[in-house]
Amino acid sequence: MNKSYQTEALKPADTSASATHENRVCIIGCGRVGMASAYALIQSSFLRELVLVGRSQEQTEGEVMDLEHAVAVPMKPPVKIINGDYAEAARSSIVVVTAGEATSGPDESRLDLLSKNAVIVRDIVGKLKAEGFAGILVMASNPVDILAQIAQEVSGLPAGQVIGTGTLVDTARLRGLLAEELGIEPRAVDAYIIGEHGDSEIAVWSGARVAGVELGRYPGAQALPDYGDILDRVRRAAPEVVKRKGHTAYAIGLCVQRICEAVLRNERAVLAVSTLLQGEYGIEGVYLGTPCVVGKNGVERVIELDLDAGEREGMQASGNLLKSMRQDLAEQERA
Ligand code: LAC
Repeated sequence: MNKSYQTEALKPADTSASATHENRVCIIGCGRVGMASAYALIQSSFLRELVLVGRSQEQTEGEVMDLEHAVAVPMKPPVKIINGDYAEAARSSIVVVTAGEATSGPDESRLDLLSKNAVIVRDIVGKLKAEGFAGILVMASNPVDILAQIAQEVSGLPAGQVIGTGTLVDTARLRGLLAEELGIEPRAVDAYIIGEHGDSEIAVWSGARVAGVELGRYPGAQALPDYGDILDRVRRAAPEVVKRKGHTAYAIGLCVQRICEAVLRNERAVLAVSTLLQGEYGIEGVYLGTPCVVGKNGVERVIELDLDAGEREGMQASGNLLKSMRQDLAEQERA
């Protein structure tokens, strides 16, 4: 055993109340999305502690018990499940916020939810800040782009540390649709949805590749439905699910898990998440989905895709829409 190792081993563990627990993730909001995220997270070998913060103490206790039973099933890696408060939450490496009202129906846009959920998110992030939270904040509540931006502003954290789930789920839906049409697996499809996680999002057709081949030149691509129809199916995917079962949960839950995994394992994974654009695509000061390098510091690099003129216009329209929503919200709150 060399000397430096001994010194390291003899260093007392930081047991102070404010110490961050490595590999601890906290989920604030124990609704469908929160619990789908929790269920995905407990399957991950990198997670050691999962803190749940829910609105109802009793229901959260039930969720904790159910998950405790799940992690006791043989073959599952051990995870400590904690029914926590904001002090516990703030000591996590990652806090995921899924709290907020869900869409009230298939026709309510994510933007309609804004004013209700802005109040909830400000309250949550204010409490985390008061407890000294300095980790990575993953925002999943809708409308996710604007709420991630509000969370970043309220938290005072560097923009890279506040990540919206963004268009990760939409990108998965696009890849899934193309893969199904082309009769291959989704991982062979390299294509992105960027912009708002919502109706103004765009598909970057100009850069789409399948197994390294330009999408339009891939065998069978000539028989694909119209690109506009495919994008429309991606945009309508969540409302179509909501129309039938009332909510979406599994896909977004796995997106949350994927982002947490990239952070905790410092993967530097490229994921289409929502981040603060600072000049990319000619857009300044708006949170929007775009591929980003995600590692232990959160978003470590924002990737600006090459867009054709129409795509660039669509991306800017998406940014302008969110800017005007923010203005409308500010005016409504001043009134
Ligand atoms: C969805 C929700 C998370 O797209 O907005 O499934």
